[in-house]
Amino acid sequence: MTKAKHILRPGKRQAGQQKKGREAATAFPAKMAVTAAPAAQTDPKRPLNCFAAVPRGAEELAAAELASLGINGAKPGKGGVSFCSDRAGLYRANLWLRTASRVLVQLALFPCSSPDELYAGVYAIAWQELITPDMTLAVDCSLRDSALTHSGFVALKTKDAVVDRIRESCGSRPNVDTTSPDVRINVHLHKNICTLSLDSSGDSLDRRGYRLERNEAPLRETLAAAVVALTGWDGSIPLADPMCGSGTIPVEAALLAAHIPPGLQRRFGFERWRDFDNELWTGICSEAEKGIRKLPVGLITGYDLDSKALLLAGRNTANAGLTGQIHYFHAALQEFQPEGDKGVVIINPPYGIRLGEENDLRELYCQIGDIMKKRCRGWTGYVLTGNLELAKYIGLKASRRFVLYNGAIECRLLKYDLY
Ligand SMILES: C[S@@+](CC[C@H](N)C(=O)[O-])C[C@H]1O[C@@H](n2cnc3c(N)ncnc32)[C@H](O)[C@@H]1O
Repeated sequence: MTKAKHILRPGKRQAGQQKKGREAATAFPAKMAVTAAPAAQTDPKRPLNCFAAVPRGAEELAAAELASLGINGAKPGKGGVSFCSDRAGLYRANLWLRTASRVLVQLALFPCSSPDELYAGVYAIAWQELITPDMTLAVDCSLRDSALTHSGFVALKTKDAVVDRIRESCGSRPNVDTTSPDVRINVHLHKNICTLSLDSSGDSLDRRGYRLERNEAPLRETLAAAVVALTGWDGSIPLADPMCGSGTIPVEAALLAAHIPPGLQRRFGFERWRDFDNELWTGICSEAEKGIRKLPVGLITGYDLDSKALLLAGRNTANAGLTGQIHYFHAALQEFQPEGDKGVVIINPPYGIRLGEENDLRELYCQIGDIMKKRCRGWTGYVLTGNLELAKYIGLKASRRFVLYNGAIECRLLKYDLY
């Protein structure tokens, strides 16, 4: 199996890799396109074939999130969810999806085993309707089990076909900007089938805008949101995180309970598209803002023995617009004693791969088990760890296990019913 990922960097064109538009158009007619959406996107009700990329293990959650936005029929697959929606649904998905890292809008799907097939399939799209010469573009590329194996070449060839088509029609071509392009094109080659999409999110959706600095091992926001969703917590009972680090779990829980859309503070790729509907978007945002509620004192608490991490947690909470709505305490796990007779405790301890050493952590995992058992009666406990050996030291029987990925690290979210 081959797997490669590439982002096209600006730079010199490689000899022989760029063809003149007219020449290329006649050399490779786009007959092989299996499906190709019309490029013009003027009708806001036109159904768009979308794909939301999510951390592996969170696909069903993302489908449920889409259903709660009124987008039904989403199909969870490996690492993402396919769904069909109109423009308003696309905007809402970007604004509201807590577990997705990006939302792609499919333009074409075609067989692709050679550079020529790639060029022709890409050239077949009426790019001039999507990108003007004064806009900028970038190409992201991922390859798996395909004849074309060099992601840099695929990205470059795609870019060539796009700019050739635009130059053919407009007389000049757009430039590449990999840091902040107006349009981000996504090429995905799997088993010699090319899916060509526009990335409607721009920056990855886990960049909510509240985390400006990083501590040593922060959870990705999307993963923290997935963890909270898997616990089924709905904001009606307390939630505590005794090893909160920079506060990602408490902040994601608070955003959920306060009905704050995770994307309210950030910008999206589609805002720079030619068909961007500002009125529609403003309406969606103000409707969302009206639903925001204040959280009751004591609903969400975070604890950590590292005061620097807590400082970050406080800043992140403030940046997320949640000042005073999450309460943090400088305390070791050994002192943890939640208040109230029921609630959800979520623990994301260090697990030896990135923080601390395995041997030192055995004792800590024993203590996690002891403290959950003795001090959290009536609560439901969850431990997210990437180290199953260490998890055995918790010494309690998990009633459920969820598989999730923290980047490349396979993790388990273990559920403990604490009687
Ligand atoms: C994997 S990190 C948690 C990361 C956090 N979820 C985030 O997104 O930033 C584990 C945290 O446990 C804290 N920690 C380690 N030992 C602890 C102890 N005995 N009591 C309380 N906190 C502890 C560390 O300071 C660290 O912040």
